[in-house]
Amino acid sequence: MWEKKPILLLLLATAAILVGTIITVVLPFAWVNTEADRIETVTPYTALQQEGRDIYIREGCNNCHTQTVRPLVAEVLRYGDYSKSGEFVYDRPFLWGSKRTGPDLARLGGKYPDAWHYKHMASPRAMVPKTNMPDYGWLSANQLDPTMIKRKMDVLGFPYTSDELYSLADKNEMDALVAYMQKLGSDIPWRNAAATTIVGNLKNPYADSDHSTLEEWEPLYEENCEACHGEHFEGDIGPELDGASMEDTELFEIIYNGVPDNGMPPFAGLGADKVWQVVTFVKYYNQGEDH
Ligand code: HEC
Ligand code: HEC
Repeated sequence: MWEKKPILLLLLATAAILVGTIITVVLPFAWVNTEADRIETVTPYTALQQEGRDIYIREGCNNCHTQTVRPLVAEVLRYGDYSKSGEFVYDRPFLWGSKRTGPDLARLGGKYPDAWHYKHMASPRAMVPKTNMPDYGWLSANQLDPTMIKRKMDVLGFPYTSDELYSLADKNEMDALVAYMQKLGSDIPWRNAAATTIVGNLKNPYADSDHSTLEEWEPLYEENCEACHGEHFEGDIGPELDGASMEDTELFEIIYNGVPDNGMPPFAGLGADKVWQVVTFVKYYNQGEDH
């Protein structure tokens, strides 16, 4: 058959490889970076954000963090709407990364208040006891150099004003990094698109239990909430919590969906059962005792 006719075999094999090459390598060039991929609301980095981005690269944050949400249900539930190619037009170089020692940061902007970031960067362990993320508090001691930043902005061709550059003289590297993190993934209005809808009747499965299990659920509060609401619900970055005054369902919705753009992150990722345990803890742990 064919394998006995070397010339024909060679031609057929070449044709087969060419077809494969065209489909997997050449055609995608026509599919990406088209007008349809451009997103109007995506803006270049400001001078402060761009400097923060350079510090992110210098410190190798991308060795532990990715910046791209893949279009998979589990990822969209955990991080938010999946990444669009048009969101990366001003990323030079892009920082998609490939290793997630820590969580993906593509949708980080607006998830936490600035104060949370300052505290977390200075000492990640103060917020998340078991994290292996290094401390970066020393970044606050390094002042920015507006002349150097001006040169970078000129090379990238991003717009800036001289007032903007002038104001950088009072800022330090931590301010720049936090400004950069608050910009990540916030150029498109993905929060509404990805808001998790809760299906079915909301009923606390632990409402009628005798609450002897509350102590067991304390670690859930310590790991997820304490950094912002304080060890004894007294408040810190977030407000003081008075769980007893709230309905179970109201608590569930706030904790499950978060309060977008007001600094309260969503905890849908914990799963409904754990969220109900936190609800029950916040609502009943306080009652009748001082601790
Ligand atoms: C050795 C790996 C490692 C390095 C390097 C690292 N991180 Fe992390 N990071 C983690 C881990 C693990 C977590 C999850 C626990 C936590 O919040 O600390 C995390 C969490 C975070 C979070 C919270 C994300 C969220 O959605 O809760 C932010 C923001 C963050 N890192 C930013 C940075 C920045 C900026 C840098 C570089 C200056 C950096 N990280 C360097 C491992 C790392
Ligand atoms: C990054 C900081 C942060 C974390 C972590 C956090 N919260 Fe919040 N939380 C906030 C902020 C800020 C608000 C105020 C939002 C607003 O303006 O409506 C808030 C509001 C709330 C409210 C509404 C309070 C009220 O009186 O209206 C509840 C309940 C709540 N959080 C519970 C929790 C629970 C339970 C956890 C842990 C699973 C948690 N929060 C984790 C920052 C946080």
